[in-house]
Amino acid sequence: MAVVRRIGVLTGGGDCPGLNPAIRAVVMRAADYGYEVTGIHDGWAGMIRGDTEPLNLENVREIISQGGTVLGTSRTNPYKSEEDKKKVIENFSRLRLDALIAIGGDDTLGVAGKLAREGLPTVGIPKTMDNDVPETDYCIGFDTAVSVAVDALERLRDTARSHRRIMVLEVMGREAGWVALYTGIAGGADWTLIPEVPADLEEMAQNLLNKRQKGRLFGTVVVSEAVHFEGALKEEETGEIDEFGHGRLGARGVGQLVAQEIERRTGIAAKHAVIGHIQRGGSPVLRDRYYPTRFGISAVDLVHKGEFGKMVALKGEEIGIVEMEKVVGRVKTVPPELYQLAKLLFK
Ligand code: F6P
Repeated sequence: MAVVRRIGVLTGGGDCPGLNPAIRAVVMRAADYGYEVTGIHDGWAGMIRGDTEPLNLENVREIISQGGTVLGTSRTNPYKSEEDKKKVIENFSRLRLDALIAIGGDDTLGVAGKLAREGLPTVGIPKTMDNDVPETDYCIGFDTAVSVAVDALERLRDTARSHRRIMVLEVMGREAGWVALYTGIAGGADWTLIPEVPADLEEMAQNLLNKRQKGRLFGTVVVSEAVHFEGALKEEETGEIDEFGHGRLGARGVGQLVAQEIERRTGIAAKHAVIGHIQRGGSPVLRDRYYPTRFGISAVDLVHKGEFGKMVALKGEEIGIVEMEKVVGRVKTVPPELYQLAKLLFK
């Protein structure tokens, strides 16, 4: 087994609360093994540029409560060009790294997995407020994003009640409806639309109308940014495609469209709000401190054992280890039964 002296750590993809606790834990655990830690700036872009900073106990001690990522992030895909991929591999040697921990979602982990296949010693940590990385019960950032969205929904309910109208909250989450579903359940929404289930706008409108006729004069609806219904843009029609091929789903404006449809079909006044990146900010909630810390420790332990090409994961309440290959290119979506369960609450 190769001797490890220095490990790199990077955060890639959309930021979220919980990244800093993971970085901190990596540095703390690395100290136990006597490893130096190099922080890579701005995700894979930093590996292409060779842009780094040394991390030590002093500069990470207090970052546990900070949102975002102290390392910076980007949606850079080094596999888009042969030259960039080569630079990553060259910089790995030039920076004298013996292992690299990549904290990110499917795209970032996909790159780490490909590099592992090419012989670079990488380990992954699952992060995404979308919570859609397979083989793990939890991804860093999800809980805080839902907590923020629930708070927003409750605020919207206050104003909906005063004006006797329907307020529609559009949340992020890409092709997975986890954020919308959990926000709807925890925030007590009257209806929730997720991308996994084609939106039945008529069923929703009838439900809201029935409640109105029974005397409930206001309501809230949660809509995932990626929800499908006739008249809504397809992802590829949004015009802005990132390096991993994702469109800007927020540009579809589904929250506004749903509010318009509610008004048209029911005659009840409806307005919408888009929470957008507010969902990705703020201090991490408990689980986005505790599990990232556990992940960071376990990732360094994997490095120490020489187990590369693997990702740490949450399995129930335990930390598990999965092959990165098993994760890459797949999305963990909401099972239809869970949506049926949520529908029981649309009363
Ligand atoms: O993947 C996380 C996420 O927040 C998605 O929910 C959302 O569609 C996307 O990132 C937004 O990306 P950006 O921060 O590049 O606008």
